[in-house]
Amino acid sequence: MTVRVTRLTESDWRLFAAVRLRALSDSLGTEDPQFQQESSFTAAQWRRRLREHAQFAAMLNDRAVGLIGAQQENPDTVYLYSLWLDPAARGHGLARPLVAAAVDWARDRQARIVTLRVAVDNAVARGVYESIGFQPITGSRNDVRAGELAMSLSVR
Ligand SMILES: CC(C)(COP(=O)(O)OP(=O)(O)OC[C@H]1O[C@@H](n2cnc3c(N)ncnc32)[C@H](O)[C@@H]1OP(=O)(O)O)[C@@H](O)C(=O)NCCC(=O)NCCS
Repeated sequence: MTVRVTRLTESDWRLFAAVRLRALSDSLGTEDPQFQQESSFTAAQWRRRLREHAQFAAMLNDRAVGLIGAQQENPDTVYLYSLWLDPAARGHGLARPLVAAAVDWARDRQARIVTLRVAVDNAVARGVYESIGFQPITGSRNDVRAGELAMSLSVR
């Protein structure tokens, strides 16, 4: 499978809305408050999300099959969130280039560190992050939440 990873722009808001809602319904279900909230977003709200955070899509034959968000928290730190691949596209190594694109973006922005959170029992996602070089944040720097592990990667 050849995947193309692209950063979505405001004009891609319809594609972004569709893949984001697929990701939320697959991960959380359509009854989840977050799905309910975002499914009623207006075009302006989707566009704002694309302005405020960088969103990268994995494209297979012009179909979006994956997504990751990246938020610049401060000049030094970029936070990655909501990595997702369509279930039919899993198991083919497409997650790594998606995460790598977001890490490259952080590096281009002169960030020093990229952080994320992953469920402790999500072995597949942890494997993806570790293969790129992310390591668990240890000690008091770890913002521990129930069942989640904070990881970071130094990019400078
Ligand atoms: C997380 C996700 C994006 C990974 O994509 P994927 O296509 O399933 O992952 P890959 O096939 O690239 O596998 C990643 C690695 O994990 C390994 N792996 C697969 N199953 C595993 C398991 N049960 N335990 C440990 N490692 C596993 C694979 O061997 C692969 O490593 P390799 O490339 O060195 O062989 C995808 O599973 C997904 O969308 N899951 C639901 C949403 C989610 O959990 N997002 C993460 C939020 S932090």
